[in-house]
Amino acid sequence: MRTPTVVGNWKMNTTLKEATALANALRRELDRVDGVEVAICPPYVYLLDVADQVRDSRIGLGAQDCHWETRGAFTGEVSPGMLRDVGCAYVVLGHSERRNLMGEKDDLVNRKVRAALAARLTPIVCVGELLEERDRGAAEAVVRGQLEGSLAGLGPAELEDVILAYEPVWAIGTGRTATPGQAQEIHAMIRAWLRKRFGSSGEGVRILYGGSVKPDNMADLMAQADVDGALVGGASLEAASFASIVKYRKENR
Ligand code: PGA
Repeated sequence: MRTPTVVGNWKMNTTLKEATALANALRRELDRVDGVEVAICPPYVYLLDVADQVRDSRIGLGAQDCHWETRGAFTGEVSPGMLRDVGCAYVVLGHSERRNLMGEKDDLVNRKVRAALAARLTPIVCVGELLEERDRGAAEAVVRGQLEGSLAGLGPAELEDVILAYEPVWAIGTGRTATPGQAQEIHAMIRAWLRKRFGSSGEGVRILYGGSVKPDNMADLMAQADVDGALVGGASLEAASFASIVKYRKENR
């Protein structure tokens, strides 16, 4: 009932030429894939060109962040409406790199989530603990706090338009994936929290796993009951590896 979803987060990578070539290669590779929702999130400046490459394909377009206001004196920022205007359907919000390197807090992520929903974008809301927090047994409490803050004020109907991503910070870009069991443990906790807070709407929400997802660990992660997809960084920059992550199911290969 939850459509498996794979999202590529290109972060601050690629040239214009590389971005269009990657999108074009993915379009060819993923043409016949069935039953998986796929999106790629290039840097802002390449969105229009990448949109041209994936138009009328099965690949959706997303951005890596947005501002919470619709317009105005916010130098350097991009509004959710602008993202829709150039063809985005998704936006990654509260990524750990924004939380930890740019100082984004839950209340700011929450404003962005509401603004994205108001602009009819699907927010992909990221949560995840630091290594130090895991080591002192605080992983669940940290993630619960991030959920409470980032999703504050949302009702069940709004929640249905949200995708969550659990990304343990110690697994991002480190090659150190959480074991499928470790991922499932937190995903199950998130699911239970969603049910408690939003009732049956929590059942349909997709919870992606992120952190060193590769072609060879994807199927094991997806075998977990509450892992509904992946948010992929490094491995999304190479068409063959991203495509084989999307094609984790035998029938799609
Ligand atoms: P990674 O990044 O796949 O390179 O670990 C994941 C992410 O930050 O979304």
